[in-house]
Amino acid sequence: MNAPAKTEEFVPTVPAGVFAETVTSVQHYTDRLFRFRMTRPDSFRFRSGEFAMIGLVVDGKPVYRAYSIASPAWDEELEFFSIKVPDGPLTSHLQQIKVGDQVLMRKKPTGTLVLDALTPGKRLYMFSTGTGIAPFASLIRDPETYEKFDEVIVTHTCREVAELKYGFDLIEEINGDEMLSEIVGGKLRHYATVTREDYAFQGRITDLIVNGKMFADLGVPHFDPAVDRAMICGSSAMLKETKALLEQAGLTEGANSKPGEFVIERAFVD
Ligand code: A2P
Repeated sequence: MNAPAKTEEFVPTVPAGVFAETVTSVQHYTDRLFRFRMTRPDSFRFRSGEFAMIGLVVDGKPVYRAYSIASPAWDEELEFFSIKVPDGPLTSHLQQIKVGDQVLMRKKPTGTLVLDALTPGKRLYMFSTGTGIAPFASLIRDPETYEKFDEVIVTHTCREVAELKYGFDLIEEINGDEMLSEIVGGKLRHYATVTREDYAFQGRITDLIVNGKMFADLGVPHFDPAVDRAMICGSSAMLKETKALLEQAGLTEGANSKPGEFVIERAFVD
């Protein structure tokens, strides 16, 4: 018998402007959080800190949500850190994905949490809550971050200690990587706090800024617009309150078209 001709193979239809990529690993942290990695198309270019529209076909229709790309621009794969929403139109399905499954991704990445949107400075704060750490997972693995800043402080606040694991694993990965750790050169600091469990560092980042505990814990001076730059990624309320504190300290918001002293982006999926 002849083998079936190549043209008879089943080829799923992928809409124009969309990549269909293959899941290479999935790791569940808690019943609310997981990360996955997938193949990266050769032609897909992005700046560390940007987001892409990620999707799955649900009941015959593609459903997309914005996801920050958690891997750096040089990585040959793409990584995402996701929340699991029980009835979420996308995440209720996405949390079931397994290695080998296909995930859709629109071809155009975008976003404001990019180094180009900041004016030069010395210390870069990255304030995150929950999955808001994702764009910073990308940026803290990008050599350009350390070319531009002398000190990089990633803050991550979650409800529970188990939700901090993604961040701790990331720091461990960086420290354990010979090339990356040399590039980082001791400039990276990780400040993790929780709000609903006992832990060495407790409280919302906004409260820890207002009462000065964050500065005391890190041994750094209060915000100074001359040297400090910041990126914020979390819920709408967290963004609004953190932004107000930076503005009170004299920092102004920037954008791709007009760089400034801080930039913000919502951690999209909820
Ligand atoms: P809290 O436990 O006090 O609500 P979530 O999982 O709901 O996205 O929250 C992630 C973290 O963000 C939690 O620790 C939560 O604290 C904190 N958080 C929620 N709202 C704000 C806010 N307006 N400003 C700063 N942190 C916030």
